[in-house]
Amino acid sequence: MTIRSRIIGCGSYLPANVVTNDDLSKRVDTSDEWIVARTGIRQRHIAAEDETTSDLACAAANKAMEHAGVTADDIDLIIVATATPDNTFPATATKVQNRLGIKGFAFDVQAVCSGFIYALTTADMYIRNGQAKTALVIGAETFSRILDWEDRRTCVLFGDGAGAVVVQATEGNGSTDDYGILASRLHSDGSKYELLYVDGGPSATQTVGHLRMEGQEVFRHAVTNLASVIREVLGDTGLDPDDIDWLVPHQANQRILDSTARKFGISKDKVVVTVDRHANTSAASIPLALAEAVHDGRVQRGDIVVLEAMGGGFTWGASLVRW
Ligand code: ACO
Repeated sequence: MTIRSRIIGCGSYLPANVVTNDDLSKRVDTSDEWIVARTGIRQRHIAAEDETTSDLACAAANKAMEHAGVTADDIDLIIVATATPDNTFPATATKVQNRLGIKGFAFDVQAVCSGFIYALTTADMYIRNGQAKTALVIGAETFSRILDWEDRRTCVLFGDGAGAVVVQATEGNGSTDDYGILASRLHSDGSKYELLYVDGGPSATQTVGHLRMEGQEVFRHAVTNLASVIREVLGDTGLDPDDIDWLVPHQANQRILDSTARKFGISKDKVVVTVDRHANTSAASIPLALAEAVHDGRVQRGDIVVLEAMGGGFTWGASLVRW
C-alpha cells in the first residue's frame, strides 16, 4: 500500500476591482496593444485598500473546503504560499487558521511564483509520512502592494488573487494508475537573485520595497527551466508528453505558456490559460487556473494534470497529478 496525496477540492477568489490595460495607460506610458502583444494580459484584479492577502486566502480556502466537502475539523495542516504576507510575522497561514477555526499547524512558504508548487510538494511530504491527513494548500498574493506603479516594465504584468486546494491522504498501489500526486520536483538557483527580486525587506532596508526584474533574462531562463522540470516529472513516472491531459502552468506570460507547450507538442486547447484575465498573480496563479478548469468541467477524474512554475530566486518546480 502506498499513501498518495489527492486534491479533493479547489476554490479561488479574485478582488472585485478590475484594472484594464487602458486604465494603466492613463498612469504610465504604455498601451493595450503593447501589453497584449508581449504578454497576452488584458486585465488584472487589484485588492481593495483594506483587503489583505489573508482575506483573499480565507475566501479561496472556504470555497475549496466547501468543494471538497470538508470542515475546519478535518484540516490538520495549512500552508500558505505567498511573497506578500499581511505582516513580516506571524505567518499569514496562522491568520487563516484562526479565522477558519482550524487546529493542527500552519506556516507560510516563500518561493515567489513557484510558491504553490513548493507548498503542494511540502504538504505531500507531510501526508505521505503520516504527519497530516488533510491539508489546505493556498497560494495568495497582493502583488499590487510591492509594484512600482511608475515602472511600466513591471507594473503591467501582475495582479492580486488567491487559490486553494484541499489535499487528502488516499491509498494507492504505487503505480501511475493511482490518484493524487505521482511526482514532484523542486529546484532553485540563488545565483540568479538579481534578475528578479524586491529591493526592500525587514532586515535589509526596514521597508517593503518594490519588485525589480530583468524581463528578457527571466523569460529566457523560464522557458529552459520549465521544459527541463516537466521532463523530470514525466521521467519519474515513465509517462510521455502525449499522456498529459492538462497543463496548468504558472501564468506569467502567454508567450512562455505557448513556448513550453510547443516544446512538448501539447496542443493549445490542453493548456489552461488565465493570464489574459488575471495577469501574473505569483503563487496564486496555479490554484486559480486549476479551480477554473475543475469547476468548468475540463479537468475530469483520472486525467493527468501537470502543474509547473518558475519564479524569483530563481525557483522552479513541477507536480504531476492523476486527478
Ligand atoms: N509598455 C510599452 N513599452 C514598454 C513597456 C510597457 N509596459 N515595458 C517595456 N517597454 C519598452 C521598453 O522600455 C523597451 O523600449 P526601448 O526599446 O525603447 O528601450 C521596449 O519596450 C522593449 O522592452 P523589452 O524589455 O526588451 O521587452 P520584451 O519583449 O522583453 O518584453 C516582458 C518585456 C514582457 C517583461 C518580457 O521580457 C517577459 O515577459 N519576460 C518574462 C518576465 C515575467 O513574466 N516575469 C514574471 C515573474 S517570473 C515568472 O513568473 C516566470
